[in-house]
Amino acid sequence: MDHNTNVGGRFMLYIGIDLGTSAVKLLLMDSEGNIRNIVSREYPLYFPHPGWSEQKPEDWYEQTMEGIRELLKDADKSQVAGISFGGQMHGLVILDEKDQVIRPAILWNDGRTTEECDYLNNVIGKEKLSEYTANISFTGFTAPKILWVKKNEPENFARIKKIMLPKDYIAYRLTGVHCTDVSDASGMLLFDVKNRCWSKEMCEICGVREEQLATCYESYEKVGCVLPEVADELGIPANVVVAAGAGDKGGPARDFLRANGGGGGAGDNAAAAVGTGTVGDNMCNISLGTSGTIFISSNHFGVDQHNALHSFAHADGHYHLMGCMLSAASCNKWWMDEIIGTKDYAAEQAQIEKLGENHVYFLPYLMGERSPHNDPNARGTFIGMTMDTTRADMTQAVLEGVAFALRDSLEVAKSLGIHLERTKICGGGAKSPLWKKMIANILNLKVDVIESEEGPAMGGAMLAAVACGEYASVEEIAEKFVKVTGTVEPDPELVAKYEDRYQKFRQIYPACRPLFEIIK
Ligand code: XUL
Repeated sequence: MDHNTNVGGRFMLYIGIDLGTSAVKLLLMDSEGNIRNIVSREYPLYFPHPGWSEQKPEDWYEQTMEGIRELLKDADKSQVAGISFGGQMHGLVILDEKDQVIRPAILWNDGRTTEECDYLNNVIGKEKLSEYTANISFTGFTAPKILWVKKNEPENFARIKKIMLPKDYIAYRLTGVHCTDVSDASGMLLFDVKNRCWSKEMCEICGVREEQLATCYESYEKVGCVLPEVADELGIPANVVVAAGAGDKGGPARDFLRANGGGGGAGDNAAAAVGTGTVGDNMCNISLGTSGTIFISSNHFGVDQHNALHSFAHADGHYHLMGCMLSAASCNKWWMDEIIGTKDYAAEQAQIEKLGENHVYFLPYLMGERSPHNDPNARGTFIGMTMDTTRADMTQAVLEGVAFALRDSLEVAKSLGIHLERTKICGGGAKSPLWKKMIANILNLKVDVIESEEGPAMGGAMLAAVACGEYASVEEIAEKFVKVTGTVEPDPELVAKYEDRYQKFRQIYPACRPLFEIIK
């Protein structure tokens, strides 16, 4: 197929923006999927109260703009054709009449909304929520945050003109369009996932008017183009293109290629799935970032009996199920940076020798837990130490605890008749060979390692290329760009040892749950 990759003898360039929790990562990709540059810029995370988690949208935008400048430093800026996103999900960004941010964003790992979740799950009722949205309420989701602002900050609530998600605020600043995409909208608990539209019932329950919500696009659709002043500031071509729906798959690319549009983008997990080729039916991706997720793509809409897994729209035009743990690589970072006090993670992991034989267990619930327990009061817990327990045993327990907790979500998927043989993996934690080995053996899955672990940023750039019409579909580009470079195979002997340990691990949380209630 002629992908117009070589317009005027030149490759076009696409920018993927992954608006993460600790940093924004930006990736520059060309039409053939080659990564030309990657940069990352950090911003602060605020915990103004135990269990709360906030960031300033202005910080995101500032660092994103700085990041784009750095990303394009040595590139031919006139080749930039598209920009798209993956972004931390569920965060509540509220804008006033003048499109000014009203208060700091309340993030996906913020646990302040227990009361609102109780109201939604128990007074409105889980059955109704599941019927309206395919999901139930979790503290990090957006709808309970809206109810929290309504009750606790009525003056802020009264000023809301637009409700946005984190990456959508960046899209708005770049294009002037209030937009979101189906995958990210799914995590708001205001979205009818099955029918891919806003839920009137949920809007009513939350006291929100539909015009306060953004226009929702498929992740690969164009939403607008970069504002002239933004184009000037970045030195990239200003061009006005693209009506909504110009996702115009396989359509004439030339106009789009000359244009500079913002793709709809996706929640970071859906974008990571695109970036790792987890599209189409029954594919799996595990992300070991600040959060940990197990993401299962599906051509069909589905919900598990207790809504323990999230049922969301996927960026490929279909659906996915996802288990999300709130602290994954962040558990290891906490243990290394804050407790042991080292930056040399590899040296610590090199001391770990006895896989499958550790007596120490760790519950990785440092921010409470989402899937499958839905318990904001859960806490990090070590158990099983003796006088001969070593620092290496504790480090090992942290890494294993995260893998065991992912297995908890995999068990829910299995109960739905989902059978998986393999998974892709991405995120900071995926750089550790030892952690990948633990995941392969604890989940008994073949772990396919891909060329680029930059899941969401790569996925964002790929969505931009589809939005620009260079590739006919998300599946097509994923098939062409994503290359598996190796596989970590489970070892039957180690699988058996870990099976025994997992059966013990899964008994620890239920035993601790009443204590978490007492110590909260
Ligand atoms: C997914 C979730 C997290 C954030 C992290 O439901 O809350 O994975 O998206 O950025």
